[in-house]
Amino acid sequence: MESVLITGANRGIGYALAKALVATDFRVFAGCRKTENAVSLKKLGAAHGDLLQVLPLDVSSDESVAAAAHTLEGRVDIIVNNAGVMPERGDEKITSIDFDHFRDTFEINVLGCARVIRSFLPHLRRSNRPRILNLSSGLGSISERDNFSYYAYAVSKAALNMLTRSLAFELAPEGITIVAISPGWVRTDMGGDDASISAEESASALVEAIQGIGPNLNGQFLDRFGHAGKYVW
Ligand SMILES: NC(=O)c1ccc[n+]([C@@H]2O[C@H](COP(=O)([O-])OP(=O)(O)OC[C@H]3O[C@@H](n4cnc5c(N)ncnc54)[C@H](OP(=O)(O)O)[C@@H]3O)[C@@H](O)[C@H]2O)c1
Repeated sequence: MESVLITGANRGIGYALAKALVATDFRVFAGCRKTENAVSLKKLGAAHGDLLQVLPLDVSSDESVAAAAHTLEGRVDIIVNNAGVMPERGDEKITSIDFDHFRDTFEINVLGCARVIRSFLPHLRRSNRPRILNLSSGLGSISERDNFSYYAYAVSKAALNMLTRSLAFELAPEGITIVAISPGWVRTDMGGDDASISAEESASALVEAIQGIGPNLNGQFLDRFGHAGKYVW
């Protein structure tokens, strides 16, 4: 049975993915920054016993990520860097950008992923088929950019794409596959009510991707089904 670490697993896509993975015979380490509020996730854990462990994990904190890595013994086969924020309204201009939004978004969406990967590398190295999925977004594509909305979020996802592509070269000799993957436009607190698919639909496609990806896709920007070609950097 493979083990998956998911960050931000208490709601949205992360929660739906945790639920779909435990139902598909994966062991899930469900990262969550405020475990005291994670009522649904705790219920899911209680229903699945050892298969789902709720793990306190704030990706913006060096101490929290290091403590989570210290808590987990053994192997992690897959890291899903799902935790993310989009604090903007989307209508900001250069004169009205809140630089604190930029700092917070970078801290979580970019450095958060780097922190988790660094701290959990020893766990991945124990796997026969190690994979990392960084949840990116079409808004992180530079070549498809045709407006100025969501500055901090879009810039953070473009930076995450570069982190992914760069790490692909560093980690390839160890057989670790790393990809950027877009979950689609999903009805969550972040995606809003008008989004095109439910969190469950996104999660079901992501499970397919998790099962399918391997070294042939290392360093690629994938759609939610794990296919290359739809998204361009
Ligand atoms: N929804 C979409 O349409 C869409 C499209 C493209 C990409 N994505 C990406 O998919 C991922 C999940 O999005 P979503 O729609 O599920 O968002 P969401 O509903 O807003 O959920 C975000 C999750 O991230 C967690 N999180 C935020 N900061 C964290 C931190 N410092 N440490 C640990 N967890 C933290 C949140 O925890 P709290 O409950 O504690 O805040 C929550 O569990 C994100 O990376 C997002 O950028 C989403």
